[in-house]
Amino acid sequence: MQKSTLQSIDGDFKNKNILSSIQFSKKDIDILFKTTNKIKKIVQKKGHSDILKGKIISLIFYEPSSRTFGSFVTAAQRFSAGFIPLQGMNNSSHAKGETLQDTIKTFASYSDLIVLRHPEEGSSEIAAGVSQVPVVNAGDGTGEHPTQALIDLYTIKEKFGKLNGLSIVFFGELGHYRPVNSLVKLLALYPHNKISLVSPDPGKIKSEIRNYLKQKKVNFVEREELGSAIKNADILYVTRVKKEFMSDSLYKKLKGKYIVDKKVLGKMKKTSIIMHPLPRIDEIDTRIDDDPRAIYFRSQIKNGIYIRMALIALVLGGKI
Ligand code: NCD
Repeated sequence: MQKSTLQSIDGDFKNKNILSSIQFSKKDIDILFKTTNKIKKIVQKKGHSDILKGKIISLIFYEPSSRTFGSFVTAAQRFSAGFIPLQGMNNSSHAKGETLQDTIKTFASYSDLIVLRHPEEGSSEIAAGVSQVPVVNAGDGTGEHPTQALIDLYTIKEKFGKLNGLSIVFFGELGHYRPVNSLVKLLALYPHNKISLVSPDPGKIKSEIRNYLKQKKVNFVEREELGSAIKNADILYVTRVKKEFMSDSLYKKLKGKYIVDKKVLGKMKKTSIIMHPLPRIDEIDTRIDDDPRAIYFRSQIKNGIYIRMALIALVLGGKI
């Protein structure tokens, strides 16, 4: 593997680790989205393709996951690739005290790609540093979740036909929410977007993300109430309170504070969308799920398969 684990994609995904949004340029995103469009057509027409036949993907998940795990499994299977599912880790040698590094070295020698979810920020970089095969970060603690952010960006492009000049409101606890950390970095690549970070205090976005946005001269505001931001929003991106990353007392303080219901929906533009990477607990009232603007159980979730298929195909050099 390359010396630097956090390498720019620079138009060539083959054998690269996918660890952070900052590896992507606009050109890389164009390549990924074009490949995703092709794959989407293949899946809709034939359901599968043999381009990764003979390849094996290790899915090493130290943290709970439904969609990320399930969609990577689906992606592998639709490409006729094999996969090793290590989920929960209680039945693996981790339970005996094995280090992340040793687990990664082992599964790198069994497979062609490792997809890793782990509770510690920076874990995917550590893994990439000892792996013989590329590593995909499927969520590292309160760090990043780049594949989710690419899904979200693709969904936004599909809906609005552009990635610039949009008003995006992030709503909820933002201090521990890795999909937002990754998505705002991607949005920073495109001009004239307006980002509103609406979150409780404590629960504001991490200072390193705030500094990144400042450094990239992104137009963003931080506030505690939705206020007038909601009526101009093209996208309302809702987050879960990440209970597992905070004390019980902080969770009790934040839970149920930021809720999207019919009243909020009533203030939104007809052309707007509501996104959520899921799981949703109580932050979106289930009675708005049927509104066409609520796309979290529609395109956002489906696109998870197509983007992840495109990523693994490009990294493993499959010909589409
Ligand atoms: C998110 C995650 O794991 O970061 N889920 C996901 O992958 N779609 C969000 C969450 O845990 O709430």
